[in-house]
Amino acid sequence: MVDFHEDPVPGSGRRAARADFVSDAPRLPLNGRWRFRLSDTAGGTGPSLPDPALDDTDWDDIRVPSHWVLEGYDRPLYTNTAYPFPIDPPYLPDDNATGDYRLRFDLPSGWPGGRTVLRFQGVDSCGTVWLNGELLGHSKGSRLPFEFDVTGVVRPAGNLLAVRVQRWSSGSYLEDQDMWWLPGIFRDVELLSRPVDGIDDFTVRASYRDGSGTLSVTADVPGTVEIPELGLVFGTGERVTIDRVEPWSAERPRLYRGTLSAAGETIELAAGFRTVEIIGGRLLINGVPVLFRGVNRHEHDPDRGRSLDRDTMIRDIELMKRHNVNAVRTAHYPPHPEFLRLCDEYGLWVVDECDIETHGFIYAGWEGNPPGEPMWRDALLDRARRMVERDKNHPSVVVWSLGNESGAGAAFGDIERYIRHRDPTRPLHYERDPSYRHSDFHSLMYPSLDDLERIGQRKEDPPEGVLPESDDDVRRRGLPFLLCEYAHAMGNGPGSLADYQAILESYERFCGAFVWEWIDHGLAEVDSLGRRYYRHGGDIGYQPNGERFCLDGLLFPDRTPSPGLGELRKAIEPVGIAVDGGFVVVTNKYDVLSLGHLAFRWRAEVDGVLEDEGTLTVPDCPARSVVRVPLPALDHGFEGEVWLTVEAVLAEAARWAPAGHVVAFGQARSGSGAHRRPARAPGRAVFSADGRLVRLGDLELDGPVFDVWRAPTENDRGQGPRNALAADWEAVGLDRFLHRRGEIERPDGDTIVVRGRSGPATRTLGFRTTYTYRRRDDGLHLLIEADPVGDWDDTAYGHLTVSPPRMGVRFALPGGYSEVTWFGRGPGESYADSHAAARVGRYTAAIDALQTPYLVPQENGNHVETRWLELSGQGLPTLRVDGEPHLDFTARRWTSEALRAARRPHDLTDSGRVWLNLDHAQQGIGSASCGPALPERYRLPVRRYTWSMTLSV
Ligand code: GAL
Repeated sequence: MVDFHEDPVPGSGRRAARADFVSDAPRLPLNGRWRFRLSDTAGGTGPSLPDPALDDTDWDDIRVPSHWVLEGYDRPLYTNTAYPFPIDPPYLPDDNATGDYRLRFDLPSGWPGGRTVLRFQGVDSCGTVWLNGELLGHSKGSRLPFEFDVTGVVRPAGNLLAVRVQRWSSGSYLEDQDMWWLPGIFRDVELLSRPVDGIDDFTVRASYRDGSGTLSVTADVPGTVEIPELGLVFGTGERVTIDRVEPWSAERPRLYRGTLSAAGETIELAAGFRTVEIIGGRLLINGVPVLFRGVNRHEHDPDRGRSLDRDTMIRDIELMKRHNVNAVRTAHYPPHPEFLRLCDEYGLWVVDECDIETHGFIYAGWEGNPPGEPMWRDALLDRARRMVERDKNHPSVVVWSLGNESGAGAAFGDIERYIRHRDPTRPLHYERDPSYRHSDFHSLMYPSLDDLERIGQRKEDPPEGVLPESDDDVRRRGLPFLLCEYAHAMGNGPGSLADYQAILESYERFCGAFVWEWIDHGLAEVDSLGRRYYRHGGDIGYQPNGERFCLDGLLFPDRTPSPGLGELRKAIEPVGIAVDGGFVVVTNKYDVLSLGHLAFRWRAEVDGVLEDEGTLTVPDCPARSVVRVPLPALDHGFEGEVWLTVEAVLAEAARWAPAGHVVAFGQARSGSGAHRRPARAPGRAVFSADGRLVRLGDLELDGPVFDVWRAPTENDRGQGPRNALAADWEAVGLDRFLHRRGEIERPDGDTIVVRGRSGPATRTLGFRTTYTYRRRDDGLHLLIEADPVGDWDDTAYGHLTVSPPRMGVRFALPGGYSEVTWFGRGPGESYADSHAAARVGRYTAAIDALQTPYLVPQENGNHVETRWLELSGQGLPTLRVDGEPHLDFTARRWTSEALRAARRPHDLTDSGRVWLNLDHAQQGIGSASCGPALPERYRLPVRRYTWSMTLSV
């Protein structure tokens, strides 16, 4: 038997790639339970697999589509850039798990004559297919369909379909995307009747200019196009112009439905009129600039891997639309074709990316990188061809992306020529070739804010290897810029989303950006105690593995939105709402829509309590323009801190969200009134011998303990010397301060001053601290002064410039506290560089609900700009803390140390106490797990800090 799997050719025996469409021709889904047997090597169960006479009754059965590694066989592997096999192209190790599949089926009665085609929508990584003992051929290119003509081979009854799938094949060298390696027949398998005089392939071109549309449909056989709504009936090959059409856009996905009929078949058409152009260095769609507010989407489900059902696809799209996402980069392969049909219908701009990534050649110094090697040319071109042919008729697809992180090479020139010839209507994107010769966009991943700003000004430095003012340099500067990845959403974060958005909205060159990434690729597992958790690469005993780097999405694996997605929704909201003087300034940031589909409502809150509300009449305002509306007449007699919130909500239900769904909001403080404080008895304060507060009224507590450390976030553990903050903190000992009490003074009957010093073992660095307590009418006032001492520039172990992640104190409180009410930003967590989504208001939450269960425990649940908070619990006096003016707080049942030590959320157990951090500040979050260093302005320099608060019970 031929060893197809190691041959670099993309396939054999397959039909030509063609469009994916829905027609009235009979179709027989072959999904279901198949016979299955897994072997250790590429030869599988041997040559008898296709033999109809083979007795497979003792084989297992497996669900198709699925990945066998998620159905109880073998194991999933996760690597980031590394190939999990030697770089020995096109060969693979002998150890090559191979799944043999068999299915017996009959044709339904009345299956028509004409041709019959067998289609696989996705087989990872290589499938060899036999029907009734006859070899049909093989195919690689896991995320792309392939077909065999089985006319004359298929019979009315008693068919035996056999498929051999190798986990590793030559194709795997081209599929080194940062994701789980998940073999199997993981997308649909179907039998298609191709009627006599049916249509095999067709191309729709529907363009739009200034209100009118042009439509043509070409097909391999003559046919008739009918679009009843437009009164159109015309023949294939003709080009018709329609005077008035509505264009298709992600914002208003106007589809004109109709049919394409030939003598033997009728196909559903969904034409969206739109024209994509690059003019003057800008991306224009339908003549207007657009800004992609995008995400990178892998197909992922915690139980099914990349084998997604339609409901999950819809869920993704609804979640995207509800969070103001208007674009998807199909990182890093074409998705299931149904996803694109749904994007056409719901409205998302799609950058359709080819199933090509050769990142692992980085470990060979890019020596032998496939795009530069003639041996791989056909395989690479085959992938581009199958993507373009399959997806060419989708209005949502507006950009073709040639692949990801595959260096440079002649094959990209071949791919470019092929696509431009087949489809001159869409621009091309490829990020990794520094010449950008095969890309219509300049594109990068993870630039810093400063670098992005320079790119906006077209003043970026040329990439390495490109000479300033060379042709490539000049051409690149003239291109629009598409930020294909930014804001690495690993763990807590990403920070700076609003900062990035502000820059993206400031320069014409930008056509948008795609957050990395949509969903955490955690795989569901149940531990010995029956608790469900999510595996990452490090949970599989295999080297190399990419550990937790696959947990970097805006959704948790079960599709619960993370706080990062909430922040993104706010940062990219399509309507800006601000207050300027006596006006609400409403900025329409849509590219197409006016504001007519939105209703505006306002509310006035005093100290977080609703006092007044109403609706705001906002005149309709075209895309990319601004309207000013007089402020609602507020009662000016309010006493306290007054906030006006204006929300833009869907006036009517959309396909993806109900009426009333909040699309955007703005908040502004009205007047300068300070929040009111309730009258409180100060309560007697008792101090320990070493000057800690151990009692306040009836409350037993313990603190404050000076604390400058936080449980590292994934973004604190970034790559490269500038980003490995957590390692630096630990190197100098910020996580293990020891404390020494100095003098305690009582300058008067109402004041106690406690001096001390906090710092790590082996070091001179630390802070000298002074806590000054004053008994006042409204409580116990505490002033904290912290002055740096010692050597903060590490001299013993080479140079480190460390800055503390927090400047705060910690209190231990009775474990009976269960709830926090606060006035400040909320309800979700917030940080210095990610608090746009957190509105100023009054919130109540259970302490347990204040924790964000990041899959790898880390700092979470902070609240910036807290004016005051109250902790309550049964049988306990309510503890109130007033900031002067603000504090950051977190309240947890475990310490930061326990957070760091835990491997999974369920490792965190109630310590029996509530740990309350009351901080002057905490540094920002950033996204340095893969990206630039945290900007200086979000760090806490080593300097003197003072802050104060009032405690009362
Ligand atoms: C990019 C890559 C993505 C992912 C990301 C880090 O370089 O394109 O696939 O690996 O980094 O999570």
